[in-house]
Amino acid sequence: MPRNLIEPHGGTLRNLVVERDRSDELKSQSRDWPSWDLTGRQLCDLELLLNGGFSPLEGFLGKADYQSVCDKMRLADGTIWPMPIMLDVSEELAGKLKESSMLALRDAEGTMVAALKVTEIWQPDLNAEAKKVFGSTNPEHPGVAYLMNSTNPYYISGTLEGLQLPHHYDYVQLRLTPTQLRAKFASLGWSKVVAFQTRNPMHRAHQELTFRAAADLEANLLIHPVVGMTKPGDVDHYTRVRCYQSILRHYPKNTATMSLLPLAMRMGGPREAIWHAIIRKNFGCTHLIVGRDHAGPGSDSAGKPFYGPYDAQELLKEHEEELGIAMVPFKMMVYLEEKDAYCPVDEVPEGVKPKSLSGTELRERLADGREIPAWFSFPEVVRELRRTYPPRNKQGFTVFFTGLSGSGKSTIANVLMVKLLEMGGRPITLWDGDIVRKNLSSELGFSKEHRDINIRRIGFVAAENTKNGGIAICAPIAPYEAIRKENRELISKNGGYILVYLSTSLEECERRDRKGLYAKARAGIIKEFTGISDPYEVPDDADIVLETEGVTPEQCAQQIILHLEKEGYIGAQDD
Ligand code: PPS
Repeated sequence: MPRNLIEPHGGTLRNLVVERDRSDELKSQSRDWPSWDLTGRQLCDLELLLNGGFSPLEGFLGKADYQSVCDKMRLADGTIWPMPIMLDVSEELAGKLKESSMLALRDAEGTMVAALKVTEIWQPDLNAEAKKVFGSTNPEHPGVAYLMNSTNPYYISGTLEGLQLPHHYDYVQLRLTPTQLRAKFASLGWSKVVAFQTRNPMHRAHQELTFRAAADLEANLLIHPVVGMTKPGDVDHYTRVRCYQSILRHYPKNTATMSLLPLAMRMGGPREAIWHAIIRKNFGCTHLIVGRDHAGPGSDSAGKPFYGPYDAQELLKEHEEELGIAMVPFKMMVYLEEKDAYCPVDEVPEGVKPKSLSGTELRERLADGREIPAWFSFPEVVRELRRTYPPRNKQGFTVFFTGLSGSGKSTIANVLMVKLLEMGGRPITLWDGDIVRKNLSSELGFSKEHRDINIRRIGFVAAENTKNGGIAICAPIAPYEAIRKENRELISKNGGYILVYLSTSLEECERRDRKGLYAKARAGIIKEFTGISDPYEVPDDADIVLETEGVTPEQCAQQIILHLEKEGYIGAQDD
């Protein structure tokens, strides 16, 4: 290791990937071992264990280290380490293991990436872990939610041997390991490197902040974004990496570089800041920029922040000397119009009103297709974000009809489709109840279980249409509230969702009885008939309620068109 680079945490940079012979040996022995398919988080953790990003750890934590990390933020030998790195497994697997059992750890494709010789198996108290590590047991904290809802009930530990690093197909050249990044710094002659951690797209404020930090310290800059797992709802890493790549051009030549970090964040605020510092030290950085609410999960539903805005800075300051990597604390950067410049919020001259744009406002502006001011971001970054987050009139959406048989769903859905086809611009798919029953769900009947499967299938395909910028018009009875809500949640993640309830009365539907089904249902020939011998739960969350009696289908469809226009899904003709 080049002598002028910072020492890794604990003194030795780990490399847990074994030599070729040993990996061949483990692979051939593994035929009779049980396997564990690593979760997304475990795979991220494993990668940083194997490549030394988590040095000095030599594997997932054992019981003594785990207790000590939770209680004291230190490994059992006293080395500072703030975050439990655990291998959680199911009860079923735990039951098959005992001391000295060998276990194959596999990635999502089934490739064996590591072998574990088990030494300990135990059931942790996840509630206590949440309290100690995150200072909270509120599941609105994403780190707590993961512990409570997505963590398997047993922890196991043992001797870990890596066969290979987890494979990535994306941005391969940008994913440098600690060894590779250290070698790069050495070859460039960089010994003073300030790291910038981020899980968000970078805008002008971030560019200014990082530029200033590097210039003040006369250091080089590493943009080190997290591309493993971040906070649910964050901008996807593909979009972010394209943004970072364009931002790199705004730094002086030969002073800044970027590498991607396959970290699974926990949003653990102060403890996480220490963890980030240790990781950056292992990657060869001498400094870490720590801003406001570093790695914080924001506030709970009552508006109470989980951590104070500068808690992370304070905790890191306390341990800075021992850690050996320096913190570069930064206040929030704001824009001063008169000076056309950014400055830290605590340096704003008296009487001057600074400008800033919150993440929520940025998202709203993108959704409405409104201007993103040039003082806020770079045109290339805005272009990328607009591609990923098109305005509403370019996004996909689903119009989901629900109502009794004969309430007018198919007719109105057809009129709506024709009107939208006249307007053009987006592909349209109609998932009418009868069409679905003939094609997607031909094997299903009308029990609650089968109806739920049917509606779930419609939700799935509509979500795909919506995700790809199309319009899905669904027209099943969908009598059950819970499954409709499930669909709303799924589809809304991918674009718009508009629930239309046709409130046609049972008497009217029965009077119409176009298919003669009500007569059959009354005579008991058709069983489980909605409204007659099966329930229909009226929605309490319909975006549009249509009375169809005494109104034409065209008028009903027009009401929907007007609603879509009001919500921004249909734009002016020249859009
Ligand atoms: S569900 O509940 O949403 O899965 O139903 P859906 O897929 O929309 O299918 C409803 C159409 O199937 C015909 N049909 C029945 N409907 C309700 N209950 C029973 N038992 C039943 N048996 C057959 C009926 O023609 C429905 O079509 P629409 O267009 O709603 O009249």
